[in-house]
Amino acid sequence: MLKVGIIGAGGIGRVHASVYQGMPNVKLIAISDIRNEAASSVADEFKIKAFNSADELIDLSEVDIIDVCTPTPIHKEYVIKAAMAGKHVICEKPIARNLDEAQDMVRICKKAGVKFMVAHVVRFFPEYAKIRELIEQGSAGKPAVVRASRSVGVVAGWNNWYSNYELSGGLMLELMIHDFDVLRWYFGDVKRVFATEARQNGTEYALATLRFENGVIAHVEGSRAHFLSFKSALEIAGDGGLIDFDSNAAKPINLCIGKKGDSDKEIAIPSSPTEESPYYKELFSFVNCVEKDLDPPINGVDATKSLKVALAALESAKTGKVVRL
Ligand SMILES: NC(=O)c1ccc[n+]([C@@H]2O[C@H](COP(=O)([O-])OP(=O)(O)OC[C@H]3O[C@@H](n4cnc5c(N)ncnc54)[C@H](O)[C@@H]3O)[C@@H](O)[C@H]2O)c1
Repeated sequence: MLKVGIIGAGGIGRVHASVYQGMPNVKLIAISDIRNEAASSVADEFKIKAFNSADELIDLSEVDIIDVCTPTPIHKEYVIKAAMAGKHVICEKPIARNLDEAQDMVRICKKAGVKFMVAHVVRFFPEYAKIRELIEQGSAGKPAVVRASRSVGVVAGWNNWYSNYELSGGLMLELMIHDFDVLRWYFGDVKRVFATEARQNGTEYALATLRFENGVIAHVEGSRAHFLSFKSALEIAGDGGLIDFDSNAAKPINLCIGKKGDSDKEIAIPSSPTEESPYYKELFSFVNCVEKDLDPPINGVDATKSLKVALAALESAKTGKVVRL
């Protein structure tokens, strides 16, 4: 039985707490937050201990895994403290606010000999995992052009940190990094990035064009102008057909191959997104790595590459220039 402690009792900390509660081989021990009321609220709901100090939680000898769910600029401090205390660490995405922080986290976790995973959850959504399988099977031929989008409303968070671009990095670092990461998972390294964005009072809209080393071109669109709603979509055009996913559609994944009128060659693959929570799959994959001494599916080096793409997009939007990685 592995014992887990969570740092950060905000939106995602609560989600993680509920997920661990449903795992047979895990015992969630405690949660900490600088806001006593936030930690107590989650602790009362899940019948675990609440701490005001993360250091006290990290020092608990019974805890095997620390799960860092604090705002992005506060990832580094706790990941490093946990690693130095010999705990395995899972940390929310993006790995960090800047490259220096990310590289320190990777280096110290490696030196401490602990497992370190970054929670890029979109890789665990069944639709996105299925699309990777389709790409690898060559179902739509050789991919050439991609359109990805992710739209949500304005989020505030603790002390309105999401709208403070110095802290959060805004839409590209917070939201579009989900697509940057998943596209890297599909197509490998990114060669260059061009991006543009519009911001007004927390409402944001951005478009980034990525050129991958393998030649694929992807348009990635992000929005915080879709109030009270969420949608994501992905379209991958290859020389053998099109993979088309829309989270709002009843049958989100459709693989369209064959010629016009050749309807028996058109395969539709309905997804079942509610089969198992992607958050369960994600956290369980880390627990499994710790239990069986395996390498985590998304390590710090991998997550740092996704961060680099997001930072390049931010820089491009600021300078109006193409950024080469
Ligand atoms: N994977 C996903 O789908 C997903 C979704 C939302 C957020 N996130 C990521 O999770 C992280 C947290 O986001 P959130 O939406 O839960 O934020 P949030 O603002 O809702 O919660 C953050 C919590 O951290 C606490 N906190 C702040 N400083 C602290 C400190 N020094 N020590 C301990 N606790 C502290 C705050 O009191 C707050 O309760 C971010 O990195 C974000 O990018 C991921």
